[in-house]
Amino acid sequence: MNIVVGVTGGIAAYKSVQLVRLLVQSGHEVHVVPTADALRFVGLPTWEAISRHPVTTSVHDDVASVRHVALGQAADLVVVAPATAHTLARMAAGLADDLLGTTLLATRAPVLVAPAMHTEMWLHAATQANVRALEDRGVRVIGPESGQLTGDDSGPGRMSEPEAIRAEIERILAEAAPAAGTRGDAAGLRVVVSAGGTREPIDPVRYLGNRSSGRQGVEVALAAAARGADTVLVAANVEPGILAAATRAGIAVRTVGSAAELGAAMEDLAPDADVLVMAAAVADYRVANVAERKLTKEAAAGTPPTLELVENADILVGLVAARKPGQTIVGFAAEMPAEGETLLERGIRKRRRKGVDLLAVNAVGWDAGFERPTNALTLIDAHDAVVAEPSGTKRETAEALIDAILRLRA
Ligand code: CTP
Repeated sequence: MNIVVGVTGGIAAYKSVQLVRLLVQSGHEVHVVPTADALRFVGLPTWEAISRHPVTTSVHDDVASVRHVALGQAADLVVVAPATAHTLARMAAGLADDLLGTTLLATRAPVLVAPAMHTEMWLHAATQANVRALEDRGVRVIGPESGQLTGDDSGPGRMSEPEAIRAEIERILAEAAPAAGTRGDAAGLRVVVSAGGTREPIDPVRYLGNRSSGRQGVEVALAAAARGADTVLVAANVEPGILAAATRAGIAVRTVGSAAELGAAMEDLAPDADVLVMAAAVADYRVANVAERKLTKEAAAGTPPTLELVENADILVGLVAARKPGQTIVGFAAEMPAEGETLLERGIRKRRRKGVDLLAVNAVGWDAGFERPTNALTLIDAHDAVVAEPSGTKRETAEALIDAILRLRA
């Protein structure tokens, strides 16, 4: 793979020498793009020798090959390590006053940053806001780790170790779409996945919602697409940073807000789909009379308003009723087992009630299931059999779900 390693002016630049070495050893083509400041820490000959490519910091070198955008366009991944506070600010603002800046703007590849700075600088509101802005655009962040810093101080700010950065790079490359020419085991299938959580409006500024981030559903869409499926993601209020991964992977995304909008999108897409996965958390109820204008305490005059709810249509049940021959329909269930009943018993009842081919059950509670990178699923098929119990990252559980779907269809 073609990897650009951006190096910026921090003492941790010396650790990036090892990172470049590891990437070259793994067989990647590595182009190092240091900032002028980075060269005060590690010189140009070192970068050229270990990357085995010419290195320059300026947009005015090698103009004939349009180097200032060519590197970014050709990259399969760009990593910035170390990323100083100044670099994160420059990236957040989209500044392009050197070769690294133009490369970062020209690339459509995944971008990973490994911040390194003193704790105060990392925790400063400006740096934190810049990191959030970058994450919202889909930039991945690894570290910083806590530990001894350059001076006598210690705390979060140490750049992650080269081996950890390399592992993260391999993970990101692996989840990107399969290389041209490879046919994944889901090639030829049309898969529609819903993700996120619906929001049911109360008035123009308020809603009833739930804690689903959309990560598990997005990972299912990414896994399907990476294995060659023609994939559509119906995203209900998915966090921008999570949604960006799907957009980057070339997945068609439809954004929706409420359960009614999600239902309409699924109904529209279902006739052409081979596989439907309802990973979205759909509100069971909506507000009967949505207020035209913002509700105010002044108008309420001391009497708190009462919200009257009406039940939403069950989208999954509707999809099952309209199922076309050969279509596989998968539901999710976030369950909190009650006293005297197992998660599996609840799951089996729900699977029957919904009539789906596969139900992925996971346990939720005040501190389980939501807003976490990991998950544990119990997959129940139409014969009430547990066909798999994957646990791990949401990507790993997503891959296991796709495996189970493909086995059902085989
Ligand atoms: N679902 C749906 N439409 C709804 C509610 C849920 O399509 N109106 C789907 C979800 O996307 C999920 C599955 O049904 O795939 C199970 O959702 P869940 O909220 O667990 O089911 P409910 O029917 O709401 O069951 P209960 O509230 O009794 O647990």
